[in-house]
Amino acid sequence: MKTGLAFEFPATEGIKYAGSKLKLLPHILQLAHKVKPKSVFDGFAGTTRVSQAFAQIGYKVISNDISVWSKVFGLCYLKNKKDKNYYREIINHLNALPEKDGWFTENYGGLPNGKNSSETDGFKKPWQIQNTRKLDAIREEIDCLNLDEVEKSVVLTSLILALDQVDSTLGHYAAYLNEWSPRSFNKLKLKVPRLFESEKEHEVFSGDIFKTIENVKTDLAYFDPPYGSNNEKMPPSRVRYSAYYHLWTTIVLNDKPEVFGKAKRRNDTSDTLASSVFEEFRKNGSEKFIAVEAIEKLLAKTQAKHIILSYSSGGRATAENLYEILEQAGKIIDVQKVNYRQNVMAAMRSTNDWIREAEKPNQEYLFLIEK
Ligand SMILES: C[S@@+](CC[C@H](N)C(=O)[O-])C[C@H]1O[C@@H](n2cnc3c(N)ncnc32)[C@H](O)[C@@H]1O
Repeated sequence: MKTGLAFEFPATEGIKYAGSKLKLLPHILQLAHKVKPKSVFDGFAGTTRVSQAFAQIGYKVISNDISVWSKVFGLCYLKNKKDKNYYREIINHLNALPEKDGWFTENYGGLPNGKNSSETDGFKKPWQIQNTRKLDAIREEIDCLNLDEVEKSVVLTSLILALDQVDSTLGHYAAYLNEWSPRSFNKLKLKVPRLFESEKEHEVFSGDIFKTIENVKTDLAYFDPPYGSNNEKMPPSRVRYSAYYHLWTTIVLNDKPEVFGKAKRRNDTSDTLASSVFEEFRKNGSEKFIAVEAIEKLLAKTQAKHIILSYSSGGRATAENLYEILEQAGKIIDVQKVNYRQNVMAAMRSTNDWIREAEKPNQEYLFLIEK
């Protein structure tokens, strides 16, 4: 990949993910390079692609996310010390297991012939039955292999990446396609993840950012929180991470939870139980967006000299609100707007520039702030 960067652009690996920063990576790395950090905190790590890139450049990385499966990815890429070959045998063994009917097949496996709806319950399914049968066999076996936490994370990451390759979804698990996607006919096949060596001792946290932040001190913090739509008439336009990716949680925990609805989401991902404050689209009593207020608190509590904040535009009001709190948090050194189509990053000349621009939906901004 040609990027014009001052360093080699590292490859990363991850699932399809709403808000994944894969395309923004070169720009994030370039901004980080400006302040030459030794340590970086990736507070909303998601797929961990940003963490993987930071680690390969040579920074010490601390990753965190509220999702348990993100921790698994973090342990796999940031904590593993073993060679790829060590895992080859385990992965071959798992790929060779005979198919088996189990909990995943019962809930998420559909018949490949005809329409994507199972004969058992009439609901659409995210995977074809031959692949959920593989999943049932492999997931059960993983618990019997006597692996340590990092080894198990490498193998679970491999399983999730493989399932992501044969899904019949639009990239999330809140609804499934009417017709089988072409890739869902492919056979589930695990590969050893793209492991790399790190000189630095990285750390992986899993939990609410406000808890983790108390214990993390770094030179730079990168924050990519979810952004709720500020259109109060359209709350469903929100991306709700725990609901969208419930299946990765269930595969990691293997806890056969109670499920509900057509997509068979875990009960603990219902709207009342699992909403992140950053996904909140409403205002509080003093007319401030609750999500923006959470970012204000986040910036104030961050123990890092520099912060890079990702922001996806969602309307003028939020942008104005956000600008106020960014100014209070410190000095805005740089604002970059990323145009996905042209894959260019433009420096914003004035504050009004970006507030005006932020009225347009789906624009990506990066703010570099010095505290
Ligand atoms: C926009 S995504 C991050 C994407 C990530 N940068 C990537 O490239 O994959 C936002 C992430 O914030 C996480 N999240 C939501 N609320 C959180 C909270 N209170 N504390 C920590 N993480 C949270 C979600 O699980 C989600 O992975």
